[in-house]
Amino acid sequence: MLEPAGAMPQDAWRIDNTPVAAENELLCEVDVLNIDSASFRQLGESCGFDAQRIGERVVEIVSQRGKQHNPVTGSGGMFVGRVLEIGAALRDKVDLSVGDRIASLVSLTLTPLYIERIDAVDVTTGQIWVRGKAILFESALWAHMPSDIDDGVALAVLDVAGAPAQVRRLCSAGQTVVVIGADGKSGLLSCAHAKARVGPHGRVIGLVPDSTTPSARMLLRAGLVDDLVVADARSALEASGQIEALAPQLADVVVNCVNVPGTELCSILCAKDGGTIYFFSMSTSFTAAALGAEGIGRDVTMMIGNGYAKGHADTALQTLRDHPELHAYFNQKYARTRT
Ligand SMILES: NC(=O)c1ccc[n+]([C@@H]2O[C@H](COP(=O)([O-])OP(=O)(O)OC[C@H]3O[C@@H](n4cnc5c(N)ncnc54)[C@H](OP(=O)(O)O)[C@@H]3O)[C@@H](O)[C@H]2O)c1
Repeated sequence: MLEPAGAMPQDAWRIDNTPVAAENELLCEVDVLNIDSASFRQLGESCGFDAQRIGERVVEIVSQRGKQHNPVTGSGGMFVGRVLEIGAALRDKVDLSVGDRIASLVSLTLTPLYIERIDAVDVTTGQIWVRGKAILFESALWAHMPSDIDDGVALAVLDVAGAPAQVRRLCSAGQTVVVIGADGKSGLLSCAHAKARVGPHGRVIGLVPDSTTPSARMLLRAGLVDDLVVADARSALEASGQIEALAPQLADVVVNCVNVPGTELCSILCAKDGGTIYFFSMSTSFTAAALGAEGIGRDVTMMIGNGYAKGHADTALQTLRDHPELHAYFNQKYARTRT
């Protein structure tokens, strides 16, 4: 059952969330939802950041739509759970057993989800503990949960795994890279990969709203950025002016990792003619980006943040193993048993 008829699961208003697997599907017991940051911020703002009201709103969305597809931001998140059933047609095709713990790597906006109850909402991380079930289609991406990384940390990192993998592809030696929203999950991972790629003759500049946060301080301490700029990316002229003062040639690559709307123009102004802007943010307006670039006559390549790149889950998790300070920060903020 799809509404409207003929829609695909992602763009459908409503999908069938009956928790029964067809022969080419997986049925999973869901433990934790990781709501994507743009969506969680919107839910939080509309519910006064009250954990119970956020939980109730999530239940309402899922009962209306059959999936956690925020009708305001259009975005979702992912889940961690345990495999309950493997459809007969999939049993010989997937490296999975009943009982395995996995993370879904496809968006909750297309994942049939049935919630029995909400157990807890962590307002600081956007992670929600539930009792529920989800279906993964044959085409769905998923990953085994790693044994050497805390579940909460793995969930936080896997949610944004597309960003570091794309940044690796986009950046090369000697370039100047600007990461907007550098101190969030995807921003931190992006900085680590940008820095590794640009090398000693390149430069990575992180733009953050506040340089005194633990994540901003860690960025400088661990050498994941060369410079930090403190600015509100919604104030395009002021923020890009600070970047231009540091790097008059502007950036070869701009990576937008914020969770608020209205930062398209700042991203465009930070990029040089011929540069590339990677809009990983789910708050990005296609219209604002396209017309903004035209309006200021900036000839740039703009990429929509595809959440998937081959090997992205391994790349993202490996970043933590390669960067102990980054791993320690993620442990402190996202681990189930925080230190
Ligand atoms: N493309 C995809 O497949 C995909 C997948 C998952 C998530 N996303 C999206 O990617 C974005 C980032 O996700 P995330 O999990 O990395 O988010 P996050 O951890 O919440 O980080 C967002 C960062 O943006 C900063 N920020 C907010 N407003 C800002 C402003 N006006 N100027 C400068 N920085 C600002 C935040 O700073 P404060 O904390 O100080 O506010 C925070 O550090 C979100 O939009 C999310 O929905 C995309």
